[in-house]
Amino acid sequence: MQSKLMALEEGKDPASSVRTNQSRTLPSRALQFFMIFLVLGLGVSTVSVYMIRCFKVQIIRPPSNLLHTMNDTELLWRASSVPRIKTYPFKRVPKIAFMFLTKGQLPMAPLWERFFKGNEDLYSIYVHSLPSYNASFTPSVFYRRQIPSQLAEWGIMSMCDAERRLLANALLDISNEWYSFMGLIDEPGPYGRGRYDENMAPEVNLTDWRKGYQWFEVNRELAVKIIEDTTYYPKFKTFCQLACYVDEHYFQTMLSIQTPHLLANRSLTYVDWSRGGAHPATFGKADIKEEFFKIFESETCLYNNQPSSLCFLFARKFAPSALNPLLEFSSKLLGF
Ligand SMILES: *[C@@H]1O[C@H](CO)[C@@H](O)[C@H](O)[C@H]1NC(C)=O
Ligand SMILES: *[C@@H]1O[C@H](CO)[C@@H](O)[C@H](O)[C@H]1NC(C)=O
Ligand SMILES: *[C@@H]1O[C@H](CO)[C@@H](O)[C@H](O)[C@H]1NC(C)=O
Ligand SMILES: *[C@@H]1O[C@H](CO)[C@@H](O)[C@H](O)[C@H]1NC(C)=O
Repeated sequence: MQSKLMALEEGKDPASSVRTNQSRTLPSRALQFFMIFLVLGLGVSTVSVYMIRCFKVQIIRPPSNLLHTMNDTELLWRASSVPRIKTYPFKRVPKIAFMFLTKGQLPMAPLWERFFKGNEDLYSIYVHSLPSYNASFTPSVFYRRQIPSQLAEWGIMSMCDAERRLLANALLDISNEWYSFMGLIDEPGPYGRGRYDENMAPEVNLTDWRKGYQWFEVNRELAVKIIEDTTYYPKFKTFCQLACYVDEHYFQTMLSIQTPHLLANRSLTYVDWSRGGAHPATFGKADIKEEFFKIFESETCLYNNQPSSLCFLFARKFAPSALNPLLEFSSKLLGF
């Protein structure tokens, strides 16, 4: 099992050449992990020699206090500076940035704590919550990991703004890299192409329209594309309102126009739509039995054009009542 997981990681990871053995632990554990919040892994990038000479200390060391005073314009600008040279002239440990988009507290925090334990050098955490939420998150991995946040509402552009804010904050730490899996589909019918507004042409044509979900993983290259965009942003903000649910279309459509070859075209997140309705099944206490964990091997998907039975890294959605049974099974069945 373990070696299969590693092999799966090998092909897609743009940073495999700089990875250490140590850094393999977390991603292979991630393959078995559940999530209910937004999680984005950030991919590899480089640093220009000039910047290293001038700002070595600032660049190598991530900002120690996430509560900077940059406004969104300044933050996105700062985070969009992309180093061009691919080799790092210093030692660094690549990390995965985990981003949590939440209203307030994280119901699964104890499970995350356990997941992260012992991997302290291999991850960074960013939390975007309601500005009014005064998190204590202490003592915990989430302590002081909140970024300056603003109100984000389901289905409208402020949600995408929050996601861009998370990505931009994570980009400020050059050790955040890894993964690129953006799930998207071209869906005919009212909930897919039906949400397209022809005023978006010619930047976005009907055939470009894609749909996906907020649970995605992107590398640095795609993260920069998302935060630097000024071409598609105004189109989506103006012409994808209300029942359009812009957060299901904006990044997906934009990236599929710009960099289709970098998109995974499938999801890494297990979701159960079989119960019908507008929302997927929520798993509660009664659902979490040993058999439940078979979901991770329940399908066949393509990985690097080869059939694979390990299709999911994450799963949603879990009710707070699932926490205890998940904690009970985590060491035996999830490996942490
Ligand atoms: C951020 O501050 C700069 C400089 O004061 C200003 O030009 C810009 O409009 C501000 N952006 C936002 C989103 O407030
Ligand atoms: C937030 O909580 C801290 C203690 O955890 C407290 O010192 C601070 O005053 C609180 N801030 C607000 C705005 O409530
Ligand atoms: C949309 O269609 C127009 C007219 O055919 C074309 O000029 C434009 O490049 C298309 N846009 C995209 C994103 O392909
Ligand atoms: C994903 O699908 C698009 C077409 O929609 C294709 O151009 C692209 O190469 C695919 N990506 C991968 C990684 O297969």
